[in-house]
Amino acid sequence: MNILALETSCDETSAAVLKHGKVASNIISSQLAHQAFGGVVPEIASREHERLVVSVAAAALSEANIRKSELDFIAATSGPGLIGAVLVGLNFAQSLAFALKKPFVPINHIEAHIFSTFVDDGVDNPARIPAFPFVSLTVSGGHTMLALVQDDLTYRVVGRTIDDAAGEAFDKTGKMLGLGYPAGPLMDKLAKQGDAKFHRFPQALLSEDNFNFSFSGLKTSVQTFLRDKPEPFVQTHLADICASIQDAITSVLVAKTLAAAKRFQVNTVSVAGGVSANSELRRKFQAACASEGLSLHIPRPIFSTDNAAMIATLAHLKLQRGLASPNHYNVGAFAAFALPP
Ligand code: KG4
Ligand code: ZN
Repeated sequence: MNILALETSCDETSAAVLKHGKVASNIISSQLAHQAFGGVVPEIASREHERLVVSVAAAALSEANIRKSELDFIAATSGPGLIGAVLVGLNFAQSLAFALKKPFVPINHIEAHIFSTFVDDGVDNPARIPAFPFVSLTVSGGHTMLALVQDDLTYRVVGRTIDDAAGEAFDKTGKMLGLGYPAGPLMDKLAKQGDAKFHRFPQALLSEDNFNFSFSGLKTSVQTFLRDKPEPFVQTHLADICASIQDAITSVLVAKTLAAAKRFQVNTVSVAGGVSANSELRRKFQAACASEGLSLHIPRPIFSTDNAAMIATLAHLKLQRGLASPNHYNVGAFAAFALPP
C-alpha cells in the first residue's frame, strides 16, 4: 500500500510517502518568511504553501522513487489549523486523488500528533510504539492536550489548556526576551547553560484536581519580572531566565501527565507535538517515568514538529483497521462537478 500525504496546517509545507507502512520520504519545507513578523502570518502561510506545495510533493515522490500512478491512497490534513493554509494542501491532495481516481483520506492534525510515535522510518522501531491504552500529551504551538487513547484509535480528552498552548508560552515569553520566532528551540538551547532555580515562575493549576493547564499567567509573570530589569541584567542572565521559564512549563506538563497515568491506571505515556522536541521536557519525562515504572514513548524530533509522515501514518493505521472513510471530497472544491449540464 503506497500513500502520499500532505501537511500544510501551519507554517510547514510537508509531503511524505509511506510504502507498506514505512516512511519512504518525508520532505519538510519550513517557511522562513514569518520570522520578520515575530509569528505566523496566516495570509503569508497560505501563499507560501501555494508556492511550495507542488515542488514539495514532487520531491517526496522522487525521494521515495515512486510515480504518482503507483499511489494507492492520498491523505492530507483536513484541520484544525490556519484555514487558508489547510485548504492549500487539502485541495491539492483532493484534486490529485480525483485526477488519479484514487481514494482520499482526510486526517485530523491533532490526532496525527497523538499517533506520531507510530511513524516507522526504520529507526528504533517498533520500540517507539506505545502499547494501548496510553496517556498522550500533545504539546504544540496551538494545542496542549491530555488524552486517554484506546486500541481502536479512539481517545478521550481528559485535560487541555484553558488559555495558551505550551508552545505559545515558549514563543511569547521568548519574544519578550528578543529571541525571534519560533522561540522554543532557541530557548531550549540557551537554557542548557542556565540555572533553572534563578527565578521561580508560576506553575498554574498544579495543585488542582484536574488535568487542565494554564500558561497565560506565566506570560504576565515574565512580563512583570522583566519590566524593572535593566537590559544588561537581562542579557547577563538570559540563559538563567530561559532555564527558569522552561522549568515552569515543563514541570507542570510532566506532573499533570503522570497524575493522569496514575488516575486512569495506565502504565504507558506518550508525548508528541512540537514542544516534545524540548530536551528538558524529554529529560524530565525520562526521569519521572523511570522512577514511576512507566513506559515512555516520544517521537524523534523530526516527527515531533509538523510533518507529513505522521499524517500518512495515521491514514495507514486507519485504513488497516477499516476506520478511514476514503473519497471524502471537499464540497467547495468539487461542487462544480455536481452542476447539471
Ligand atoms: O507541532 P508544531 O510543529 O506546530 C503546531 O502544530 O503548532 O509545534 C510548534 C511549536 C512552536 O511553538 C515551537 O516553539 C515549539 O513547538 N518547539 C519547541 C521546541 N521545538 C519546537 N519548544 C520548546 N523546545 C523545543 N526544542
Ligand atoms: Zn502540529
